[in-house]
Amino acid sequence: MRFKILEFLKRSNNYISGEEISQKLNLSRQAIFKYISELREIGYDILAVPHLGYRLISTPDRLLPFEIQDRLNTKILGKKIYYYDLIDSTMDMAMNLALEGESEGTVVCAEGQIKGRGRLGRNWSSPKYKGIYLSLILRPDLLPNQAPLLTLLTAVSICQAINKITSIFSSIKWPNDILINNKKVGGILTELNAEQDRINFVVVGVGINVNTPKSFLPPNASSLSYEAKKKFSRIDLVRQILREIEYFYFLFKEEGIFPIIKKWREFSNLTGERVKVICHKEELEGEVLDIDSDGGLMLREDSGLIKKIMAGDVVKVR
Ligand code: BTN
Repeated sequence: MRFKILEFLKRSNNYISGEEISQKLNLSRQAIFKYISELREIGYDILAVPHLGYRLISTPDRLLPFEIQDRLNTKILGKKIYYYDLIDSTMDMAMNLALEGESEGTVVCAEGQIKGRGRLGRNWSSPKYKGIYLSLILRPDLLPNQAPLLTLLTAVSICQAINKITSIFSSIKWPNDILINNKKVGGILTELNAEQDRINFVVVGVGINVNTPKSFLPPNASSLSYEAKKKFSRIDLVRQILREIEYFYFLFKEEGIFPIIKKWREFSNLTGERVKVICHKEELEGEVLDIDSDGGLMLREDSGLIKKIMAGDVVKVR
């Protein structure tokens, strides 16, 4: 009910009287006051003026499901959001929920993580109220070896969302890094539960350093706020990320991976670059040509041999 009241406050640009809320929601004045107090406790700044009523002054900088879902307009992504103030890792929670049968599109979102993790067992710095830390459950009809395509799709979605919300150009460093000015500001972690010939479910983890001070981050990383010298709304960004992932996910289901690869090329910061790739303790060097239809990186070695790499760490060579 408190969110119904909040909706009234949001939709009216001016004061709304206790009388009006009371009539529309069939609530007593005391009940309204109680819900308003609860909203204030969450962090909503609500002004109450005698004879005029209530007015919403500001919303808190929290990734509250109600806020994310406001004007989200998706069909599956974010229809259900589990929200935590602090959690070990959204990945574990989403994995468990998916095992229990939670439906496709469900999102687990946290304000902070104690054991946030990245690729290759690395730590993911997740200070409270600074970044975006979320995991989403997908149940695609894919073979296990096609799972990297979901990382690719998510990377494109994140870049598109960052560019739309912040107007900063971000790029993708294959396979899962999101960069701004060549510094890592975000990453994607894709974990799956699969049998030999089918995926049961995939959990896609998204971490973005939004308003994170440099002191919380590893030396080569950065945040949106540090790069742009201003803060951004995490809510707007999460909402847009969910919209974009859903858009590209449906597009992928209908038309396959090619429209997404086309988009990926626009954002790739590696195409045409000379790189070193460390994969399975082997080191390869060459020029990045493209990505393949299964998400692998195509590399031309100096010998002219073209190799496809499915997983590895890439560094540009000058
Ligand atoms: C990487 O670049 O190595 C991937 C980083 C992924 C971090 C996100 S934050 C939300 C989700 N929960 C985690 O523990 N990790 C992912």
